Order: sequence, then C-alpha cells, then structure tokens
Amino acid sequence: MKAEEIGTITIIGAGDMGHGIAEICALAGMQVNLYDVQQEFVSRGVRRIQQSLEKQVSKQKLTATEMVGTMNRIHPFTVLQEALAHTDLMIEAAPEILDLKLRIFEAADVHAPRHAILASNTSNMSITQMGAATQRADKVVGIHFFNPVMLMLLVEIIRGENTAEATMQICYGLIQRLKNFRGAMVPVRVEKDTPGFIYNRLGAPIGLYMAELYERGLVDPEAVDACVRSFGAPMGPYEIMDFTGLDVNLHGNEYFSRTLSPEFTPRTWMKKLVAAGQLGKKSGKGIFDWPQGARPTIDLSKADPHFDVMDIICLQVNEGTKLLESGVTSQAAEIDKAVVNGGGGAFGPFALAKAMGWHNVAARCEDIANRLGIQWFMPTATLKKGEIHIE
Ligand SMILES: NC(=O)c1ccc[n+]([C@@H]2O[C@H](COP(=O)([O-])OP(=O)(O)OC[C@H]3O[C@@H](n4cnc5c(N)ncnc54)[C@H](O)[C@@H]3O)[C@@H](O)[C@H]2O)c1
Repeated sequence: MKAEEIGTITIIGAGDMGHGIAEICALAGMQVNLYDVQQEFVSRGVRRIQQSLEKQVSKQKLTATEMVGTMNRIHPFTVLQEALAHTDLMIEAAPEILDLKLRIFEAADVHAPRHAILASNTSNMSITQMGAATQRADKVVGIHFFNPVMLMLLVEIIRGENTAEATMQICYGLIQRLKNFRGAMVPVRVEKDTPGFIYNRLGAPIGLYMAELYERGLVDPEAVDACVRSFGAPMGPYEIMDFTGLDVNLHGNEYFSRTLSPEFTPRTWMKKLVAAGQLGKKSGKGIFDWPQGARPTIDLSKADPHFDVMDIICLQVNEGTKLLESGVTSQAAEIDKAVVNGGGGAFGPFALAKAMGWHNVAARCEDIANRLGIQWFMPTATLKKGEIHIE
C-alpha cells in the first residue's frame, strides 16, 4: 500500500483527539469511520466537527459545499467490527490506559483487513507492546497528533521494535497529505519507542526543573512566567502546567519516574494541589486563579530578574542529546523541528543555544544539576564533547 492509496481511515474514540483526527482526515478527502463505545459519544464527536467547520465557513476559510462534503465523509459507528471492516488504517485515540489499548489492538487485528495499518495516538505508551497484541507487529505504529489537532502542526511517527520501514513511510506520506487550519502538517520520525517520544520528552526536564524550584520556594511562579513572556512566549511554564492540568502533569511525572528516573517523582506541592482538586484551568484554580476559565492575570512588570530562560533551553538541549545518543533520531534539526511545530516558538533549543557554545551549555547543565542535586540534569558525553551538528 502507498500513502496515497489510503482511502478509508477508522478512528477509535471520538473524544478530544479522535474528533480532531477525524476532521483533518475527512477534510483531506478520506472516508472516515468514527467509532466510540456509545452513540452519544460518537454523536458528540460529530457535532464538535460540524461546529469547528461551521466556524471556518463563517470566517470564509471554507465553503459551505466543502463543509457538507467533509461531513458526508464521516461515518459514525458503535460496533467495532463494522467500523474496521473495510479500513486501510486505524488510528486509536481511546483513553490512555494500556490494558484498554491492548484489547483494542487485539480486536482490530481480528476485524481489520490484513493490509490495514494499526496506529495509536498514545502520548507515551509502548507501541512495541501494542504490536505484540497483534499478529501484524510490522504494521503497528504510533501516529501522535497534538492537541488541538486543527491548530498544532507536529505529528510524531513512532517506530515500535517490530514496525516495518514501509509502515513508517506510508504513515509519513499520509501526514504529508494533511492540512489543518494553520497549514501543512509536519511529520517527524521517532525511530525508537521511548518515553515521551520527542516533544514530550524535551518537556520533561523543564517540568522537573520548574517543579523543584517551586518546591524549594526559590521562585514566584508569576515572576517566572512574566520573565518568560517578556521573551515573546505566549505562556510561561507555570501557566502551561495549569493549562494542561496539574493532574495530567502529576501522571506524566509519575510515568517518567517509573520509566526514566525516580528523580521525576511528583513534588509535594503538586500532590497537595491535585488532592485539593486545584487542577488548574479546568477547575478554576491551580497555581494561579482562572476566573470562569479566563487566563490568569500575570503582571509583566514583576518579571524575575534572576530567572534565566537559557537555563531551561540548556536542559532541553541536554535532553535532546540523550535522544541522539539512544538513536531516537539522528538529527538535532529534527528535534528542533518537533519542538517548533509542537509548541509554537520560532526556534528549537539547539538553534537557540548554539551561539552559547556547547561546552558552556554543558557547564550550565552541570551547575544546575549540582545546585539542585538532580543527576538527571548532568550533561551527556555528547554535549560535553560538543558532538552536535546543526546548521
Ligand atoms: N488530550 C491531549 O492533549 C492528547 C494529546 C496527544 C495525545 N493524546 C492521547 O490521545 C488519546 C485520547 O485522548 P483524548 O484526550 O482524546 O481522550 P478523551 O477522553 O477526550 O477521549 C477518549 C474517547 O475514547 C472513548 N472510549 C472509551 N473507551 C473506549 C473503548 N474501549 N474503545 C473506543 N473508545 C473508547 C471515550 O468514550 C472518549 O470519547 C490518549 O491516548 C491520549 O494520551 C491526548
């Protein structure tokens, strides 16, 4: 099968991610089978797609005919067997529970045609394990979209231990066929099934660093966010934690503490806020107040003069070199591409830190590691030797 021969896609789960993936695929002209466990969940997904397209029509970015054509390509299902019967590709976007995903892959292997590729939109979980739940591990792959699908350009294509190169190429080609409301989607290959893949992995040391500084009372979140925003970032790191949900951050830290290092164990302040139901935007209060869901007020005049944004860039570069060392990707530029298109900054960490000189970046990481007693921040051999190639 070639990427352009994919005519029918089945999306499993019509929630936040599933409905967005269905929308972008239907816009690109594919037939989309949208499956969820209950009729009301599928209907809600279909309604969200309709509302999103109507907004585009009202902004004159889409014609009414295009909207009707797109909606006609979306077919709701609540019987898995029927949703998969004539599909070329499944993208699973069910909740992030491994057992649930394994059961879906087992069933999909039985019901989907032999040629079909089975993909997961998991944020973290093992593609290799999902492949092992099937008799076609060569056709099992990660296709990781970001939230919201219609605005974020990055899509990570993740190779499990037994994923065939042909499967990687078909999925890469498929993503190149897709466009969201901002532009053409940007696929990035992830050659190894590793915790956090590329984008979320580069966020891991930032989360750890910010959590530790707050735990020790070394920073005022508002002052740090004001400082980061003074460099043009739309949100500071603490507001991002609230925005994503402190519960989601807590689970992410727990996952990294199991898979990367116990140093990621969630900090007390975060556990306390989550236990008190202060989850951030979704509950109206987290690190900051979110009155009626509106963004918190950050007084930009309070920017912390001692907080150095380059600290977090250096930690990201160091994390990126771990991915280079373990063969998750061979190109620093691919890591920058993932960070730029998954987030929204103009440059990735390697491009930003290059002018500092890699030995200075390594020295900065070592200093942070020693200051906070966190080994994870120690510079890698690659960074110390400066074995990084970037234009
Ligand atoms: N939300 C994000 O920011 C984000 C970003 C990237 C990846 N992801 C990943 O995408 C996946 C889906 O996340 P989401 O945020 O869309 O979740 P969600 O809770 O919004 O949607 C999940 C959907 O799956 C349905 N579902 C439950 N059990 C099912 C089953 N047995 N079979 C099929 N569908 C079932 C639910 O009814 C729901 O509609 C997860 O793996 C998540 O880690 C999420």
